[in-house]
Amino acid sequence: MSQSNLITMDEFTIRETRKFPQATGDLSALLRDIGLAGKIINNQVRRAGLVDILGKHGATNVQGEEQMKLDIFANDTLIKILKNSTECAGIASEENDEHLSYEDTFSLNSKYVVLFDPLDGSSNIDVNAPIGTIFAIYRRVSELGKSCTEADFLQPGNRLMAAGYVIFGSSTMLVYATRLGVNGFTLEPSIGEFCLSHPNMKCPENGKIYSLNQGNSIKFSDGMQSYLNYCMESNKEEGRPFSHRYIGSMVADMHRTLLKGGIFMYPADKSNVNGKLRLQYECNPMAFILEAAGGKAVSGSQNILDITPTELHQRVPIFIGSKKMVDKVMEYVKEHEPVS
Ligand code: AHG
Ligand code: MN
Ligand code: MN
Repeated sequence: MSQSNLITMDEFTIRETRKFPQATGDLSALLRDIGLAGKIINNQVRRAGLVDILGKHGATNVQGEEQMKLDIFANDTLIKILKNSTECAGIASEENDEHLSYEDTFSLNSKYVVLFDPLDGSSNIDVNAPIGTIFAIYRRVSELGKSCTEADFLQPGNRLMAAGYVIFGSSTMLVYATRLGVNGFTLEPSIGEFCLSHPNMKCPENGKIYSLNQGNSIKFSDGMQSYLNYCMESNKEEGRPFSHRYIGSMVADMHRTLLKGGIFMYPADKSNVNGKLRLQYECNPMAFILEAAGGKAVSGSQNILDITPTELHQRVPIFIGSKKMVDKVMEYVKEHEPVS
């Protein structure tokens, strides 16, 4: 595509907003600011190895996980950019114990709050594998003009206004979803703009790839173990076993699942009864994106998006991807242990 034919993300978002005469453009501005943070984080990620940003930071986060230097950099970048944004009342981050309310006049009067996993796939930073940033945008439920409250961050995913991710892979892409659909934008480094490259993304209804940390399988339920056997057998859908792919960065595994179909799972196991992944920073935004693209996401007993969070850093088991594959794994799980 010639550079003069490119549609930038900002232009695209403004055009989408125009479909709603009552829209104020605040959401477009917020997405632009998140895109800016994505570009700044991208600059650091692309220099990893040359500047002193690889390795551990030396601290642990609220969840007891070791923080990497890039986790901290990405977190600080998002917090500062969103503070300067006129459209964000406050944030909650995987790396912060509590939510943060921005107290300047613009922020206090902003409609939106943002939740994020600033750097997803931390363990992949030092080995140059894809990593990402995940974000979720809600309309606040607290009173305009006042500080935002924890209730703003404990809304179920079905109230999301938008959600997305930036993937730092072989190229850098920003993918975001609203109720209008899912669109992907590739960073054109020479002009520093995210440009529309993947319009109207749809997750195939069925797929041939299963993705999970199979090293945990000894601790899985009987239902999960029999589903894994089904994936590894020569099954009737494929005439051969499904392929297994697992990068260990949810963003990267989900990006493949969105484009090619398949299923990504992080189930509960005997030692982690709620799985590992976080509802508000990882599962809800990804579930919103996949559902907007025609896919499905469940925790086992219910749709991910219907869960009302009770705490900020809550974890939840997840099965997400092509609709038919999600339905299939649920058949196996429910056959062995009926869930409510
Ligand atoms: P984070 O780097 O934000 O802590 O997230 C890591 C998550 C997720 O990206 C990935 O799917 C999963 O943890 C990998 O976990 P295992 O190493 O247990 O497979
Ligand atoms: Mn993560
Ligand atoms: Mn993270």
